Formats: sequence, C-alpha cells, structure tokens
Amino acid sequence: MPAVVVMGAQWGDEGKGKFVDLLAAQAEVVVRATGGANAGHTVWANGQQYKLHQVPSGILYPGTLCVIGHGVVLDPAKLIEEMEYLQAKGVDLANLRISGGAHVVFPYHLRLDEAEEDRKGANKIGTTRRGIGPAYMDKFARVGIRLVDLLDKDEFLPKLTAQVEAKNQLLDRVYGMTGFKVEELAESYLTYAERLRPYMANTVELVNDAIDDGRNVLFEGAQGHLLDIDFGTYPYVTASHPIAAGAIIGAGVGPTKINKVLGIVKAYTSRVGEGPFPTELFDQTGDAIRDKGHEYGTTTGRPRRIGWLDLVMVRFACRVSGITDLAVPHLDTLAKTGVDTLKICVGYRLPDGTVTKEFPVGLKALGQVSPVYEELPNWEWNDSLAKVKRLADLPEGAQRYVRLIETYTGVPVSILGVGSERTEAIYRTEIFGA
Ligand code: GDP
Ligand code: IMO
Ligand code: MG
Repeated sequence: MPAVVVMGAQWGDEGKGKFVDLLAAQAEVVVRATGGANAGHTVWANGQQYKLHQVPSGILYPGTLCVIGHGVVLDPAKLIEEMEYLQAKGVDLANLRISGGAHVVFPYHLRLDEAEEDRKGANKIGTTRRGIGPAYMDKFARVGIRLVDLLDKDEFLPKLTAQVEAKNQLLDRVYGMTGFKVEELAESYLTYAERLRPYMANTVELVNDAIDDGRNVLFEGAQGHLLDIDFGTYPYVTASHPIAAGAIIGAGVGPTKINKVLGIVKAYTSRVGEGPFPTELFDQTGDAIRDKGHEYGTTTGRPRRIGWLDLVMVRFACRVSGITDLAVPHLDTLAKTGVDTLKICVGYRLPDGTVTKEFPVGLKALGQVSPVYEELPNWEWNDSLAKVKRLADLPEGAQRYVRLIETYTGVPVSILGVGSERTEAIYRTEIFGA
C-alpha cells in the first residue's frame, strides 16, 4: 500500500497537477508539502479547467483528504481566493486540512520580492513575485510567523509588530518604498485565520496514520528538480526543496515510509524565469511547441521558454530523488507541431570537446556546454490517439521516443500523457500496485 511522491523532474510545469488528479482517484490522501502560491497546477476534468495553486490537486475527488503541510509557505489571502474559486465551480472543500506549522506569507514578503527583483534589474531571477523567497528567508532567519500563531491574538500581535517594524525599515532605507501598518495587517490576517480555522488540523498525525493504516497517500510536488534550492540552477531557483526529500520534510513523514517516487518529465523542456537553458529553442519549432502545448504560465501568464528534452537533466533528477517511475506527458504536443525530426539531448559537450552525462554544478559551466543530440523521427497525430490505452498502439516514433528515455535513465516510463484531459493517459504500470 504505497506512499507515492509525485515530483517535477525539470524546471516545473511538467504536468504534476494532471498526474496527481489522475492518481488521486485511487488515493485517500493528497499532500502538498512544499512551495506556495508560486505553483500553478492545471487539471482538466470532464471538459472543465481547474487552476490550482495551494490546494492539492486531489480536491476534485469528494472522498480524498487534501492536506497542506507545514513545509508550504501559505498565502492566506490567495488561498481563500482559490477556495472561493473552487467552491464557485462546485468543488466541495470539506476534506481540506491545513497544518498550523505552515509559515504565513504577508504583503511585505510580496513587496520585498518585487523590490529585490526590480533592484537586480537585468540579473533578476524572474520570480513569480508571490513573496516566496522572502517568506522562506524569514522562516530560516527564525522570525517567521506560522499559521498557528494567527489563532492566538496575544501570540500574533507582538510577532507581527516586530516584523512590520523590521520590514518597514528595510523597505524604506534599502528600497525607498513605503511600508505597512500593523493594525491593517492584523485586522485582515485575524479575519483570514478565522476563515481557515475550521480546516486546521494536526496534519503530521493524519498523514502518518493514513500510511500506517495502509491507505494510499500521494505527495504532490511543486516546482521541479532544477528549481531546487540545493540541486537546481542556483541562483535561478526557488527557495524550497522540490526534490523528493522536500516532501518528507514538508509533510513530516520518515523516508522509510515512501514506496515510490514518480518523476514527471514533459516530452520537451520548458522554463519560466531567467537562467541558463542548454536545449532552449529560439526558432519556429519552439514557437510551435509553445503554441500546441499551451505553454503559458498558470500563475503569471508568462510565455514559457521552450527547448528539446534534456535527458542529462532528467538523469540528474532521477539520481537525486531516487525516482522509481517516470510519467511523460505531451506526446501529442510534439506530434502536433508537424516538425519532421525531434531532438533529445543525451550529453553535454564541454569546452575541451569531451562529452559528459553529468550535470555541472556551476552556472558558468552550464552556460558553456553544448547539447549533444540524438535525432528521432516525429510521428503523425490524430485525435483518436488521445483515447489509446497501450503504448504499442501509439505510432512507432512515439514508442521509440519513450524507449530512449527509459534506456537512458534506467527508469521505466509508467504513465504517458496523450492529451490534457484526465482520461487522456496511458498506464503501463499500476503506480499504487505493489
Ligand atoms: P504543473 O505545474 O506541473 O502541474 O504543470 P502545469 O499545469 O503548470 O502545466 C502543464 C500543462 O500541460 C497544463 O496546461 C496541462 O493541462 C497540460 N498537460 C498535461 N499533460 C498533458 C498531455 O499529456 N498533453 C497535453 N496536450 N497537455 C498536457
Ligand atoms: P509549478 O508547481 C515553473 C520559478 C519562477 C522563477 C523561480 C523562482 O507550477 O511547477 P519563486 O517565485 O519561486 O521565487 O521564483 O522559480 N517557478 C516556477 N516555474 N513552475 C512553477 O511551479 C514555479 N514556481 C516557481 O518562474 O524562475
Ligand atoms: Mg505549473
């Protein structure tokens, strides 16, 4: 009875939401354990689109418990907005549970995120401007305010006062920006707390009980391996741990409890924000993939940068997170571009001419590699292929593409995506099986 971590193996936006929604049909608990409102997970179910940011993608199943763990930096204003959006779509939130240990995002975090990005100018990270970096900074500086603190006015007000004073000084003296009034923030955050109070629970007990009882638990990753604060393309990363280890810390379960790690690998690569991208495409092929794959940010609406599939990067993700299974969406998108030949990066050529499968640690070194490609013929697409349930029934080109990913990484591709709808997927192995 497995506990399964679902994580992005690239730069985010791989399709985590879609696969979590798919697997949630068999799960009793879905946990978001890292990141915050920077995430944007799109789910298509029964012709309806759902954009999720902080609420786990299992929420569309009335019987599934959806947990926001303490590893998340929680923006209560955005969460309440999202809850109202879901309720307006008829989604029942009775099964939402939130950890009091989650650190809270305040408007000063958002303003500091903006201010720092603007100050950096051409060197900006390209953040989602959701205050994620500043909120995690406060957490690690041990001055953060947690959701549980908001439930007790006497606990909350002195902490908030100290933070507003400190942040106002920073905003004024370093960035020349106006600050915030304690009373105004206190009033709105105490109201948010009352709205969220009924959903708060001891999520560590809840998740561990579920695992110990042999119930299926899914950990829904946010962002992706290359955005990890330690293993990503630092400093062009987020402030959390999108790798599999982030799920166990952010949910409060032991590593021995995790049975499988499902890495999501989009059939090409995308990235939002700044930073090096060895296989990036600047031509019509990139435009065609962006167009056919609807590659525009779920959170910020920014056009995503597009490139060929980079297996050097995926191999790195497989190693660091012990990925046991891969899911590969967007096999339909590549075919729909009409491009004759597809490229897959299978090595990095270094300036001295040698070729490596190792992902470089330094950013400068990454900027100097040139991708070594294997070329494969593209395949034809027609809409009936979105209904196919076996890899063997897809065109030979798609089968070869999937086999190359498996051979290179040594990890089986257990699920394929052939369209954005929940039903448009091919299972090759039962993820919740033994
Ligand atoms: P996430 O952040 O990893 O959950 O991914 P996003 O939701 O930001 O971006 C993935 C996009 O790909 C969404 O628009 C999904 O609807 C879409 N998608 C996922 N799988 C497939 C697939 O197999 N085919 C197609 N055409 N779209 C897919
Ligand atoms: P999902 O869960 C793609 C990127 C931002 C920026 C960097 C830092 O939908 O895959 P941040 O706001 O986190 O400080 O920004 O990380 N980023 C994402 N890119 N998908 C995401 O989430 C992302 N969350 C953050 O674009 O480059
Ligand atoms: Mg996304």
